[in-house]
Amino acid sequence: MDANLGRVVVTGAGGRIALTVRAGLRAEADSLVLVDQAPVTDADDNETVVEADTADLDALVKAFDGADAVVHLAALSDEAPLADLLDTNVQGTCNVLEAARRTSVPRVVLASSNRVTGGYPIHHHVFCDEPPRPDGFYGVSKVAVEALGQMYADTFGLQVVALRFGSFEEEPAETRHLATWLSPRDCVGYVRSALTAPNVNFLAVYAVSANARRFWDISVAETELGYKPVDDAARYASRFPDDDPFWHGGPQGGEYATPEALLPYLPE
Ligand SMILES: NC(=O)c1ccc[n+]([C@@H]2O[C@H](COP(=O)([O-])OP(=O)(O)OC[C@H]3O[C@@H](n4cnc5c(N)ncnc54)[C@H](O)[C@@H]3O)[C@@H](O)[C@H]2O)c1
Repeated sequence: MDANLGRVVVTGAGGRIALTVRAGLRAEADSLVLVDQAPVTDADDNETVVEADTADLDALVKAFDGADAVVHLAALSDEAPLADLLDTNVQGTCNVLEAARRTSVPRVVLASSNRVTGGYPIHHHVFCDEPPRPDGFYGVSKVAVEALGQMYADTFGLQVVALRFGSFEEEPAETRHLATWLSPRDCVGYVRSALTAPNVNFLAVYAVSANARRFWDISVAETELGYKPVDDAARYASRFPDDDPFWHGGPQGGEYATPEALLPYLPE
């Protein structure tokens, strides 16, 4: 399936998800603009590297000039002190949305996370429009990321899709991934659809593979973005014990949602 993506900015372009997304979409784009605070050394022919921090609004405005869309992946991608998450994830996302507004880039795809709802119990099937229930400060920062996207969509008419990525891995690596896995192929599929779906105002949807054991709704992504995931972690189920305590109950965030995981990050 070939979409015509035009000129697309990818922030966090040196990160894990970006490497897969770039490889999957580069042939469908006129050019990719790779924004990262760290050096990106593997740029392809139609990729331009811009070394910039998302804290630098002026640099973002320059990088976004003439772009058709932004895929904003740059972030602290795991638990961290709230102050750092507010800087990088929340203020950084605000700067990205503001730079898109100033340069009239019509569409922004935001990297949200399944951990905005990681506090729901595993036996609860979560729909995209249920109240947030973050499993840590990282999840809280992604709730704010989505809220910023909604605000820029409502107030300034930006088209925003927040993808609540599941666990992005080549293959499931732990029991929880039987529910939460996002395969590389489905990751590219969700991002492509988020860039090309018509009639978008604001959407926040789970981006997870078609795992039989998933606990998130994917019907809205299918209806509104037109993407139906193809992979299922069940194929790897024999690698993990059937009676893993994870399935007995507890939060969807699993280990992430425990007091022990958060204790190092509580305010001093
Ligand atoms: N990997 C997953 O399973 C997963 C799951 C849910 C959500 N996400 C989200 O998806 C996005 C990408 O995840 P990933 O796993 O590829 O992350 P990653 O940590 O591999 O990559 C993040 C990239 O962002 C860059 N970056 C960080 N702060 C920056 C800043 N201030 N300015 C510019 N660049 C900055 C880093 O240099 C890095 O290259 C993140 O927003 C993450 O929170 C990832």
